[in-house]
Amino acid sequence: MSFTLDVTSMTEPAVPAGVRDDDWAALATRFRDAHAAVAGVAATGVYGYRELEAQAEERGRVIAFADSVKGRYDDVVVLGIGGSSLGAIALRTALLPPAWNARTSAERDGRPRLHVLDNVDPRTISGVLSIVALDRTLFVVISKSGGTIETLAQYLVVRDRVVAAGLAVANHFAVVTDPAKGALRAIAARDGIPAFAVPPNVGGRFSVLSPVGTLPAALCGMDVEALCAGARVMRDATMGPDLEQNASGLFATLQWRAHAQAGQGMHVMMPYSDALRDVAPWFVQLWAESLGKEDADGLHVGPTPIASVGATDQHSQVQLFMEGPADKTVTFLRLEAASDDVTIPRLEPAEKALAFLGGHTLGELLDVECRATASALARAGRPSMTITISAADAWHLGGLLMWLMQATTLAGALYRVNPLDQPGVELGKRLANRELGHPDYTHANGVEGARAAVIPPRRLRVG
Ligand code: PA5
Repeated sequence: MSFTLDVTSMTEPAVPAGVRDDDWAALATRFRDAHAAVAGVAATGVYGYRELEAQAEERGRVIAFADSVKGRYDDVVVLGIGGSSLGAIALRTALLPPAWNARTSAERDGRPRLHVLDNVDPRTISGVLSIVALDRTLFVVISKSGGTIETLAQYLVVRDRVVAAGLAVANHFAVVTDPAKGALRAIAARDGIPAFAVPPNVGGRFSVLSPVGTLPAALCGMDVEALCAGARVMRDATMGPDLEQNASGLFATLQWRAHAQAGQGMHVMMPYSDALRDVAPWFVQLWAESLGKEDADGLHVGPTPIASVGATDQHSQVQLFMEGPADKTVTFLRLEAASDDVTIPRLEPAEKALAFLGGHTLGELLDVECRATASALARAGRPSMTITISAADAWHLGGLLMWLMQATTLAGALYRVNPLDQPGVELGKRLANRELGHPDYTHANGVEGARAAVIPPRRLRVG
């Protein structure tokens, strides 16, 4: 079992704008300062995502509930958005066998199919509701705040269908939310819906190891104890102030340095593994929503994360990464060895374009392409890092997710922003709530009202 972070291609002479030998001492000091800032804030108890021991009891409730309902549901549908759904999607893709939802109940060992809505597009919701049998479905409503309009709208639509079908709400819903506050907590208490707590000090995008991620995971039979065990090991390995010993710190510092000192603020996350492909959008949300904001001096800072998938995007974005603006770093995410590898048959010995492939494996092909892309980027002077994990199992996935959450926390200190808040999304939420008639948002805010009034619409309609 292992994790490796290879940063060779972030350094000189591998790439021209990379870290030089005499830069390391200053970077180590910068990291030590950032680490001290995080440690100071940690003392106030805000980094609840690390407190996995304190969540053991709730995790036990999650597992007991999942086991108690095994066989009762054919489908689980997660209602949630952003940090309340991307973690479940990443876990599903990594830890359930491919095409899980197309497998028979026996192939799923009696565990349910898993659908995650992650939006309020009526097409998706109607589509999912049209294929599930409501009397054999559990809807898991996830919202830390309990007040997100997209999730509440999903809930109202689904609840109406469940009630119209003559089913008991308490048997077809579970709720994951704040232990005391918010509309969902009140609804769960009123309707007798099983409810699981997201600790108050765990925010949306840092909540994958709380019931936000572990309830959908446990319902589908994933090993959430192994997930959290891997995460604990990684947490303990990424707590120190020494840059050379802290893999999350090294990742964060080199990404920050590439941005601040080399103009490389576009951070690509590129898994070369279909199991890990949904770690990329999960990371994009974590990195973007945590780091893109005003810093302590009122400057607008933050990297722009980009999700990519190898080898698929070698036929798409890699052209841009190679020859477009030199403003990117690429992080490759690879497995040491592919599971269920497939040997490519030797069927065309006479045909030069095919003959050389025979005898290799698909896993080998994927890995060769990963290394070739990294090498090509370096030859073009484009920096990259490679994270290698030995398996896409629950233990390693927990470690990987913790690694990236720790990196994000440390990057917050390097960028001098609070990685735990998201003030920039508030105005849009307020405007939407006001337009829909939320009683707490009916007053016209002067700035919003004035801007809307003075801007004449400029539109071009075709057809
Ligand atoms: O990371 C975050 O805090 C956000 O992306 C939230 O997860 C998202 O807005 C959903 O919030 P909630 O879980 O309160 O419904």
